Amino acid sequence: MVFILKLVGLTRENLVKLALFGSTGMMGKAVLAAARARGHEVTILVRTAKAAGAGVRVVVGDALNPDSIRETIKGADAVIQCLGVGGLGDGKPNDLVPDATRLIVEDMKAQGVRRLVCASNVGVPGSGAFLLRRVLVPLFARKLIPILAAKIKMEAILRASGLDWTAVRLAALNEKPARGKLKISAEGRMTGFTLTTEDAANFMLDIIEKKQFAANAVAISN
Ligand SMILES: NC(=O)c1ccc[n+]([C@@H]2O[C@H](COP(=O)([O-])OP(=O)(O)OC[C@H]3O[C@@H](n4cnc5c(N)ncnc54)[C@H](OP(=O)(O)O)[C@@H]3O)[C@@H](O)[C@H]2O)c1
Repeated sequence: MVFILKLVGLTRENLVKLALFGSTGMMGKAVLAAARARGHEVTILVRTAKAAGAGVRVVVGDALNPDSIRETIKGADAVIQCLGVGGLGDGKPNDLVPDATRLIVEDMKAQGVRRLVCASNVGVPGSGAFLLRRVLVPLFARKLIPILAAKIKMEAILRASGLDWTAVRLAALNEKPARGKLKISAEGRMTGFTLTTEDAANFMLDIIEKKQFAANAVAISN
């Protein structure tokens, strides 16, 4: 077992217990698969009960329910939040992500868990992305406006949290096979338009295992 872990660059020392929110979504599914492949223990919060594979603990509840959040985070070394409103949502204001993030932050502080990685979006202020923010979104993708508004609130909550947070500003996701190469901006500025979910998931796990980009909004794309 140790030999196999070393082959994939892991030792028992950097195996972590993860709490994962949004594990049934496009991004979260890839995080769950990558975390399991790396041998991490994962607790997922799901709204509908489902069977889980080895190494996965399932909590049935809701990300806006403090009891569900507490049970999900219990015993975790790190938390990954990939919550979303179902694709592009309905275009109406929706504070699910910031509201759940606030509860997650409060609970992490109460339980003494410090590491938090959250899915964010390129297109928030500070990510450059002039063409995306000023032209493409207002003209062709207005449903993104409330999603970006929610991420602005989420990133503000992270900045004020005092935790070892990272907001990972994702480019448009696709489920093609991992390319293995990422463009990363530590300043959180857009580096490209698209990104595979597998590459994004590997990045989120890498920065937890290697303790990188704490207190930082970082942007990634292929
Ligand atoms: N997709 C992209 O191209 C893209 C690009 C950049 C950034 N992002 C961001 O990345 C994040 C994840 O995106 P995604 O496309 O993976 O989202 P998604 O497919 O819509 O998945 C959303 C996840 O959140 C869960 N969820 C929603 N409300 C919940 C609640 N009240 N309690 C518990 N779980 C709840 C959903 O669970 P259910 O299965 O129960 O609904 C699902 O697992 C979002 O914040 C999104 O804005 C996405």
